[in-house]
Amino acid sequence: MGAGNAMARSVNPVEFHDYSAASSDFLNEVLSGLSNIPKAIPAKYLYDQRGAELFNKICELPEYYPTRTETGIFRDNADDIAEHMGEKNIFVELGSGNSEKARILLESFRPSQYLGVDISKEFLLEATQNLADDYPWLQVHAVCADFSRQLRLPAHCISSSIVAFYLGSSIGNFHPDEAVAFMQQIHKLIGIGNQLLIGVDLKKDEQFLHAAYNDKAGVTAAFNLNLLHRMNRELDADIDVEKFQHEAFYNPSRGRIEMHLVSITNQVLKIGKRKFSLALGDSIHTESSYKYSLQEFGQLAEQSGFRIQKVWTDENNYFSTQLLIAI
Ligand SMILES: C[S@@+](CC[C@H](N)C(=O)[O-])C[C@H]1O[C@@H](n2cnc3c(N)ncnc32)[C@H](O)[C@@H]1O
Repeated sequence: MGAGNAMARSVNPVEFHDYSAASSDFLNEVLSGLSNIPKAIPAKYLYDQRGAELFNKICELPEYYPTRTETGIFRDNADDIAEHMGEKNIFVELGSGNSEKARILLESFRPSQYLGVDISKEFLLEATQNLADDYPWLQVHAVCADFSRQLRLPAHCISSSIVAFYLGSSIGNFHPDEAVAFMQQIHKLIGIGNQLLIGVDLKKDEQFLHAAYNDKAGVTAAFNLNLLHRMNRELDADIDVEKFQHEAFYNPSRGRIEMHLVSITNQVLKIGKRKFSLALGDSIHTESSYKYSLQEFGQLAEQSGFRIQKVWTDENNYFSTQLLIAI
């Protein structure tokens, strides 16, 4: 399907804009990530179709507090959020995933357009079509893009009345310097006077954090290990996934959860014609999730050209929903 194609066979078809990267990007970033010391692969590659489905399951786990806490903040404060956002024609959701949280605000706002932007193409198409089917009055766009490379929207969707959503504490996946650069890109995209509603996970008890990323059912482990399966599926790799284990821990000096794939033996990974040696205990860093204090994130927002209009938190101060205005 090409850019700007509407999906067929629906009363309210989704307009699809395909800005996805070439598949060679995945190969190149894996090869360069495995050549680096320490070895690391960007977290965005965790989200193929299988990865997106597993992430959806993570969101329902008892240990994984962020999704239900952020959803609770939305539900408890929908009217207040609406009042502070004012009237907006266009909702742009970055890293939209299943688009579930946006529904809470779409129903009270009734904007004319919703744009879901995500790297995970099949999942994006399914989630946005579900939205379009449920809200026939809404014009829905699916933008498949890697926004860490380029943040762009279809030209006809740019408006003076736009609000961006960046939920699920996805901002925590960026190193703080990269987070500032990314928020500056969002600032440029939405323009002065427009708003960004962002979910920011807060610093908290380490054991509680540890449990959230090491669930008993092993779904987070499957999500992490799926990256190796994906490499086997898409990159002509020959990796014995059984020879790796999931590891996630809080790194207090960096203020972040780190997720790793740790080799449980000495082994050689083959990816196409390239070979990478791993010793027992060597790791591939697959995701970081930075946790912020309200003060730390306030500084980051200011450096990015935003002023905080209002912050909502849950009763335990686990998570925050922050409304920022581009100044
Ligand atoms: C932590 S999930 C959050 C999903 C959803 N917003 C939520 O709150 O449940 C991150 C989402 O961002 C998408 N994503 C990650 N990196 C991306 C990138 N570089 N460009 C576009 N989408 C990306 C993933 O596919 C996934 O849907």
